[in-house]
Amino acid sequence: MCGIVGYIGNRDAYPIILNGLKRLEYRGYDSAGIALYDGTNIQLCKTKGKVSDLEKRVKKEIDTKGSLGIGHTRWATHGVPNDVNSHPQYSNSGNLVLIHNGIIENYATIKEELLKRGYTFSSETDTEVLVNLIEDVKKNENVKLGKAVQIALNQVVGAYAIALFDKNKPDEIVVAKLGSPLAIGIGDDEFFVASDASPFIEFTNNAIYLEDEEMAIIRKGREINVRKIKDDRSVDPYVQELEMNLEQIEKGGYEHFMLKEIFEQPSVIKDTYRGRLLANKGIIKLGGLENYIKKFTNADRIIIVACGTSWHAGLVAEYIFEDWARIPVEVEYASEFRYRNPIITEKDVVIAISQSGETADTLAAVKLAKEKGAFVYGICNVVGSTIPRETHSGTYTHAGPEIGVASTKAFTTQITVLTMIALKLAKIKGTIPYSDYMQHLRELELIPSKVEEALKANHKIEEIAEIFKGVNNFLYLGRGYNFPVALEGALKLKEISYIHAEGYPAAEMKHGPIALIDEHMPVVVIAVNSNHYDKVVSNIQEIKSRKGVIIAVVTKGDTVVKEIADYIMEVPNTEEALSPLVTTIPLQLLSYHIAVMLNRNVDQPRNLAKSVTVE
Ligand code: G6P
Repeated sequence: MCGIVGYIGNRDAYPIILNGLKRLEYRGYDSAGIALYDGTNIQLCKTKGKVSDLEKRVKKEIDTKGSLGIGHTRWATHGVPNDVNSHPQYSNSGNLVLIHNGIIENYATIKEELLKRGYTFSSETDTEVLVNLIEDVKKNENVKLGKAVQIALNQVVGAYAIALFDKNKPDEIVVAKLGSPLAIGIGDDEFFVASDASPFIEFTNNAIYLEDEEMAIIRKGREINVRKIKDDRSVDPYVQELEMNLEQIEKGGYEHFMLKEIFEQPSVIKDTYRGRLLANKGIIKLGGLENYIKKFTNADRIIIVACGTSWHAGLVAEYIFEDWARIPVEVEYASEFRYRNPIITEKDVVIAISQSGETADTLAAVKLAKEKGAFVYGICNVVGSTIPRETHSGTYTHAGPEIGVASTKAFTTQITVLTMIALKLAKIKGTIPYSDYMQHLRELELIPSKVEEALKANHKIEEIAEIFKGVNNFLYLGRGYNFPVALEGALKLKEISYIHAEGYPAAEMKHGPIALIDEHMPVVVIAVNSNHYDKVVSNIQEIKSRKGVIIAVVTKGDTVVKEIADYIMEVPNTEEALSPLVTTIPLQLLSYHIAVMLNRNVDQPRNLAKSVTVE
């Protein structure tokens, strides 16, 4: 995991790197560090804690001169989060300084070798091993920095995005990538390096995304030299024009990114279907799908692989695909799928869902499915990320940058894309009547305004949050399409408030969770209009007769549940299949308000990271 930033040019590197690190904190935030070079002295400062802690220390401890610099925000893998284990890491001579995102799996063997040769280590990190390996190669083989990096990386097993410089080369940064993302921003006579493009978006729209096993030697005032790490072949890099803008990645007046992202949902759902859904004409057009329709319609089954919230979106899709397109679907945790010798054939379609496009387990599942001959389709948010490049085809969600660690708008936009795919396939296969198809299309087009309406309950939900903020356990129940929403609601609460919450299929409650119910146990029940409405009402009665406290998500105008429930959160009426797009809104808001009231770090909850690029 971790975020890395680098700069080389004519400006002061410090503010660029500091701001960049703040934007990358979603990748990890247990320690941070920076190294600046003015051509004479290297100034290095690092600390356990957040980028704001680093900023305070920098003010007190170092001179911020220098137009070359690198910075790092960490999510610990090897070694506890402390000052010493933070990056950057020096080589023994003090000449090389390196930052690293990833894991060097064979670091222990390399370290043993280096120890024998007299190297010493002050940290427990695999990064310090790597920087000394590069130094050792450079010295023994008498080669330049770029060559030394290449030779060293060929001895390394694992994943990395690295950036380093040499005290003897004040105009050069070397970067390399395998498994972790690395973008290079190209300005006028200046270059930026970062885990994603957000740190340099106000300076340039032109970027190169390094491919796996590529490295680049970046020299001020010169062309970037991109090479293959394995065989030193020179590569002609593809310069991509970026779509992101600065406003998109700032809070826009909201107290937290999470709240901003919750409220963005009406507009980003629209962005997701804009130009793709032409409801009046009965058309769905997804660029990535058009050439591969047959792969889907001929598939024996669809296997969906994902993690976290994206996995919940996959569960919703299972209901939609089977219901409308009549294609069997299996939804798998990517981390289980990749290691359990799954049966995959050339007649399977694998859909990988990932907001970041970088989740290590999902990426590994994609690679495995490809090896086994399946057709692999990606549904991702971050343009240019690794999964979209590894899959055969796919669809971007276009939700814009999601910064809050707890995923919200990614979830609803993923469901929007999956719904469009299912509808398109249903139409082609003729598994639903045309009139139903048209009705679903029109209803999907109305979802942004319905989400908007659901958001109006914000204040009321805040009042409910106030009542329940002191509770230690929550149960979330839903049936059918809304069972995955119950799981997602519980996950949201756990993630940001640290309150234990469990999501369950409402009917399954009788087989266990019902034993937990007493007057202290709030039960959030999704009880909107559906085929199972009466059954859910019975489930609510079962809870009430055991003194449980009910917070129900109901359809506006509901009278039955309103009578029995203790508290209600209303959402507008929609089709059952599309209801997860609105029922999830009050659950996001409930968890948000409880977390704020408990003084939690909503955007950066403890122990979590936005993008899990380690197994
Ligand atoms: C992390 C994030 C979650 C996210 C999951 C999958 O755990 O904290 O919010 O759902 O990773 O991430 P992806 O980027 O693959 O959707």
